[in-house]
Amino acid sequence: MKDVFLVIGANGQLGSILTLSLREQYGTKQVIASDITKHKTFLGTFETIDATDRFQIQQVVRKYKVTQIFHLAAILSAKGETHPLKTWEINMTTFLNVLEVARTNGVKKVFYPSSIAVFGSEAAQIKTPNNACLNPNTVYGISKVSGEIWAQYYHEKYKLDVRSIRYPGVIGHQSLPGGGTTDYAVSIFHKAVLGEPFACYLGANTSLPMIYIEDAIRATLELMEAPQEAIKIRTAYNIAGLSFSPKEVALAIQERIPSFKITYAPDFRDKIAQNWPQSIDDTAAKQDWGWLPRYNLSQITDTMLQALTAYYTKPLKTNKDRSILCI
Ligand code: SER
Repeated sequence: MKDVFLVIGANGQLGSILTLSLREQYGTKQVIASDITKHKTFLGTFETIDATDRFQIQQVVRKYKVTQIFHLAAILSAKGETHPLKTWEINMTTFLNVLEVARTNGVKKVFYPSSIAVFGSEAAQIKTPNNACLNPNTVYGISKVSGEIWAQYYHEKYKLDVRSIRYPGVIGHQSLPGGGTTDYAVSIFHKAVLGEPFACYLGANTSLPMIYIEDAIRATLELMEAPQEAIKIRTAYNIAGLSFSPKEVALAIQERIPSFKITYAPDFRDKIAQNWPQSIDDTAAKQDWGWLPRYNLSQITDTMLQALTAYYTKPLKTNKDRSILCI
């Protein structure tokens, strides 16, 4: 029997591209996209789900006989700090709903996105190990640590096959992030292509772990495809792509667009970033399920500038074009 995939949070930066990748890999009919609202341009099976309501998830899971749920809906680190209790409630309620619906409706696998935000001041900032002490200082980070532990609990107690990755900041041209501390690393390319200066909310030397979206999606699919016995970590896997600071990415852009200008006005997001790792040790992911990143800063810069130049200068014609910036 073919798997049926439900993506919750399919309008988001990762969810939108993951939906397209799952459709490409497993067939359009096998993938149900869902979010709190439907975009006019979305083509394919879509169900409106408010994931804070367990019964809405359950209805869709039963209707399509869903076998795998990818739960991408969450409020990210920066936005979360402006609404701490709402962030906790939304991030935790939605994930516990997904776990319960999966457990009671025969769903085989669940994917849960964790984040580098689980780390705090107690973890080594360089090559942060998978099993580092977790003392996050954002409500988003607290919710991700708790989610990881719930994932492990459901696996141990109910044998539910929940798998998770701690994503670094995700950079892609196809969609926009919203409310994260790492969002600058996408906005900077848009400004560069538009010929506008960029005011950065992080300090020039605040280095963070990042990953190109194709690598992030491939990691997700590879983790979910790996045999059960290969998955030794049931909280979440560290994955590394690359690390850079705003100054370094600005220089990479200036090598290609010499007129590009950046200024720095660090705000509360810089404080969040100062508490996060600068680089990640992903040995466990490499050993257990063969993870290997492909994109470096030079390739990311070339790809982002080319794709965004095409996006801002060409009219949208095809479905693929439509998916661009679909949030
Ligand atoms: N990109 C996320 C954020 O900045 C981290 O997972 O909140």
